[in-house]
Amino acid sequence: MLKFVILSICCLLTEARPDHLSDRVMHPHPKKSFEKYNSNEENTADFWKTNAIKTLKQAVAAEHNTNVAKNVILFMGDGMSIPTLAATRVYMGGENFELSFEKFPYTAVSKTYCVNYQVADSACTATAYLGGVKANLGTVGVTASVDWEDCNAMTNTSNNVDSIAQWAQVKGKSTGFVTTARVTHASPAGVFGHSAQRDWETDTDIINDGKNASVCTDLATQLVTEDVGKNLNVIMGGGRYAFLPKGTKGDEDDEGYRSDGVNLIEKWKELKESEQAEYIWNREQLLALKPEETDYVLGLFESDHCPFHLERDEALDPTLTEMTEAAINILSKNSEGYFLFVEGARIDMGHHQAMAHLALEETAEFSRAIERAVNITSENDTLIVVTADHAHTMSISGYPFRGNDILGTEGEAADDGLPFTTINYANGPGYQQPSKNGSRHNISEDDLSNIEYRFSAIFPLDSETHGGDDVLVFAKGPWAHLFRGVIEQNVIPHIMGYASCLGDSNVTACDDNNDVPVSAGTVFTSIYVFVVLALGCLFI
Ligand SMILES: *[C@@H]1O[C@H](CO)[C@@H](O)[C@H](O)[C@H]1NC(C)=O
Ligand SMILES: *[C@@H]1O[C@H](CO)[C@@H](O)[C@H](O)[C@H]1NC(C)=O
Ligand SMILES: *[C@@H]1O[C@H](CO)[C@@H](O)[C@H](O)[C@H]1NC(C)=O
Ligand SMILES: *[C@@H]1O[C@H](CO)[C@@H](O)[C@H](O)[C@H]1NC(C)=O
Ligand SMILES: *[C@@H]1O[C@H](CO)[C@@H](O)[C@H](O)[C@H]1NC(C)=O
Ligand SMILES: *[C@@H]1O[C@H](CO)[C@@H](O)[C@H](O)[C@H]1NC(C)=O
Ligand SMILES: *[C@@H]1O[C@H](CO)[C@@H](O)[C@H](O)[C@H]1NC(C)=O
Ligand SMILES: [Zn+2]
Repeated sequence: MLKFVILSICCLLTEARPDHLSDRVMHPHPKKSFEKYNSNEENTADFWKTNAIKTLKQAVAAEHNTNVAKNVILFMGDGMSIPTLAATRVYMGGENFELSFEKFPYTAVSKTYCVNYQVADSACTATAYLGGVKANLGTVGVTASVDWEDCNAMTNTSNNVDSIAQWAQVKGKSTGFVTTARVTHASPAGVFGHSAQRDWETDTDIINDGKNASVCTDLATQLVTEDVGKNLNVIMGGGRYAFLPKGTKGDEDDEGYRSDGVNLIEKWKELKESEQAEYIWNREQLLALKPEETDYVLGLFESDHCPFHLERDEALDPTLTEMTEAAINILSKNSEGYFLFVEGARIDMGHHQAMAHLALEETAEFSRAIERAVNITSENDTLIVVTADHAHTMSISGYPFRGNDILGTEGEAADDGLPFTTINYANGPGYQQPSKNGSRHNISEDDLSNIEYRFSAIFPLDSETHGGDDVLVFAKGPWAHLFRGVIEQNVIPHIMGYASCLGDSNVTACDDNNDVPVSAGTVFTSIYVFVVLALGCLFI
């Protein structure tokens, strides 16, 4: 009886604990042998305090840059979730490494959901971060009054959303974009396009969906012939097939995909006949471009998307950094300034295939492209903003040692006695069927060093999905300090417009009369007042 009472009390006590696992079980304690990571520096208080004070002093000394931004560059890492940033740091140089844009002084958190979906795609988000308006999943450059694949609603121009590239063109600035995807893909389409279906890149895609391609215009045609697209000074990326008719060969013996028989590359050349315009398709031609003799460039370096950075043909395929530098050199000739959009498109595609190695290398190259842009521009007149459109499901987990290979195994066995990787996806093609006896796939038998290794998932999907978590915005240059707090994604272009006096809101640095550069008129008035006062003094 006594034993029963004691047992009951014990049960009650243990039940009363919110977690029946002890802290020892829930939280890590040093495994294997305890290892010192870096005994000469990081083991002292001094090291951490000195670093912290340095960061603190920078924050205290920071002055707001209230110049008008002559130039705006928006870098967008497609699918560049926050775990992607943390993993790429380790991949590039260790946990304390900083990606180039992580050195930027200001950040905000961007909420990425689209009007009708919790987890966004690249089309509705492009409408938000380029046009300032949230849209429906799969639609680009149109308001949420346009449903997916609603061809008629898309042709109603009052449903169109103009991008910051349009705002910049109206004010006489040069404009352009660079991407590693097809130039007609969802993200760049946000620069110039209006479509109820992001996949309507050619007329063939529209016909295949049972719609009338002479009613709703495909994105490649919009890019070459319509208002914003035809005025772009720089268009670079992949996607030649969308420009060429079926039966017409591209520069690398590739096939065209258009049904209307129109060769849009020839059309582009024809429309630019009286301009200094170059069509190019390989790296050598890109590096040979003379910015002073080039006002317009159409660079289509691949039939489809550009290859992954790690898999490119180094002789033929330019890097994102090279394309970005060439774009800036061409655009910066305009004394009115420019707007440039640069997309690191294939971070997303690496993740979709659960090929984390490729995704991290794409992020590393994206970081280098931004570093190059920072090097060749001035923060006095150029606002640089770096963000992502949406997240992915990749996680960094377990308790790996400091310095552990981010693409390797965590080091311990899971409760099933089998090893696991630090990086995993919630879903995707990396799912492995259990063995016949029910045990989890033994990854020790996998070649984790293969750059196309697919990291594991909880359940199978052909393509790993996007994530619904927030992404970051990093900013440097005029009015960068306006990027702060947790913001809706569609606020981003309005801040860029404020900084560079663009947009139709009348809420800009110029309208607010904040620190408008001193004009000749102001100088003249000041001299006049000074002379009058001086003369007045003489006569008193
Ligand atoms: C065009 O769209 C606007 C705004 O959604 C709507 O008010 C108008 O009725 C539409 N026009 C036509 C012809 O459908
Ligand atoms: C497509 O639209 C055009 C222009 O409105 C029209 O002339 C043509 O008959 C339509 N084609 C089909 C198959 O409906
Ligand atoms: C940027 O400039 C720094 C300092 O000159 C240089 O070390 C670095 O390699 C440059 N980075 C790029 C990507 O051009
Ligand atoms: C930026 O502006 C500061 C202050 O006006 C000036 O000292 C500096 O030389 C400028 N830098 C560049 C690169 O123009
Ligand atoms: C289950 O099957 C796998 C693969 O066939 C084998 O390696 C493993 O030892 C088996 N486990 C048990 C508990 O039998
Ligand atoms: C997993 O595979 C490795 C390499 O083949 C093997 O040494 C190990 O015993 C396996 N683990 C289990 C639990 O079967
Ligand atoms: C902005 O100003 C212009 C000219 O003063 C005016 O026509 C327009 O309606 C204003 N726009 C907004 C959104 O207030
Ligand atoms: Zn995607």
